[in-house]
Amino acid sequence: VSLKNLNTFGIEAYARYFAEISREDELVELFADEQWKQLPRLILGGGSNMLMVSDFDGLVIRMNIRGIEHHINNDEVFVEAGAGEVWNDLVNFCVDRNFAGMENLSLIPGSVGASPIQNIGAYGVELKDVFYKCHAFEIATGAFKTFSKEDCRFGYRESVFKSDLKGQYIITLVKFKLSLNPNINITYGAIGQELAARGITEPTIKDVSQVVSHIRVSKLPDPSTIGNAGSFFKNPVIPVDKFELLKTNHPDAVNYPAGEGFIKLAAGWLIEQCGWKGKVVGNTGTWKNQALVLVNHGGATGQEVYNFSSQIIDSVYQKFGVQLEREVNIIA
Ligand code: FAD
Ligand code: EPU
Repeated sequence: VSLKNLNTFGIEAYARYFAEISREDELVELFADEQWKQLPRLILGGGSNMLMVSDFDGLVIRMNIRGIEHHINNDEVFVEAGAGEVWNDLVNFCVDRNFAGMENLSLIPGSVGASPIQNIGAYGVELKDVFYKCHAFEIATGAFKTFSKEDCRFGYRESVFKSDLKGQYIITLVKFKLSLNPNINITYGAIGQELAARGITEPTIKDVSQVVSHIRVSKLPDPSTIGNAGSFFKNPVIPVDKFELLKTNHPDAVNYPAGEGFIKLAAGWLIEQCGWKGKVVGNTGTWKNQALVLVNHGGATGQEVYNFSSQIIDSVYQKFGVQLEREVNIIA
């Protein structure tokens, strides 16, 4: 099965076996068969955070469990969505009903089921701020388990599903806790400026959603026309003393506080300073408006993009002594 239309990088790669899951019990059925349990497997949502470096000689499981339900309890709103729902459809569902909390996460590609994996985040909000619990299938035992927010151990672009439990669970449902009382968060980047430009002084969650969407469209390439997986690297977090040293040579380094004793650097800035912004290298390169985004200009192989990313890691390390870490999941 070709995965070319199932990953937003638009990379050609083939899966040996492919299954589409629309109900939880289909997972039980599938893994009751030892033959499938033994194979390497790849859980696939929208394919918007992976780079296929080779064909996949195993079983690709595409999550297509649908459905969105909600119930209101005083000011609290509990929303439950199937792993296969499109993340932004869920955001719109909530914004349209004035269920507040997700509006800053508008227009992030991908599925609901993948949202806890790296604790998606944007414009001052992270998934963990609205996450309540999730339901997941344990492949080894065939049992379902509910994970609380604490169980998930969310961090910046991190969760237990990427670390200790990597590859062991398939998320089938996610439950969110939202509010009927919006807590408008417009501190990040250009949101405030853009609202002001629109003459909006008392923004609603719909305004925030629209402004975030507008900013995103202006910065990020649309995968339907130019292949990419969003930020290719994480923003590196370094100890304060190392940052102080770096600042002596680079006083304008873009940075954010990252908890006691740590500073987060803008990887896009580091990459731009190394001269990579907008560079086209073969069929790949970085995006002209956002150096943190690697793109497929057409016909790139996963290996080509991967090699290019290694070149970037090397040059950022040479110039700044900072080690970039890939954020995108490398499938090899
Ligand atoms: P996939 O790419 O299909 O999978 C990602 C990983 O999760 C894989 O390891 C996969 O095996 C695993 N996985 C997927 N579904 C499940 C499941 N149900 N159970 C268990 N494991 C699963 N991310 C942000 O955080 N913030 C952003 O602002 C942002 N902007 C982006 C902009 C663009 C243009 C693009 C292309 C991507 C952006 N991303 C961003 C990255 C991406 O949208 C998110 O990581 C998203 O959550 C990926 O969802 P997906 O369904 O496409 O996951
Ligand atoms: N910058 C540059 N040059 C660039 C890009 C950025 O100098 O080419 C500097 C700018 O000064 C800018 C700052 O970096 O002010 C931050 O840029 P931006 O607001 O675009 O955010 P980011 O740190 O590059 C992160 C996330 C994005 C998320 C945005 C908004 C990571 C790895 N990326 O990017 O997430 O949408 O913040 O919150 O944390 C993704 O994960 O795929 C993704 C797009």
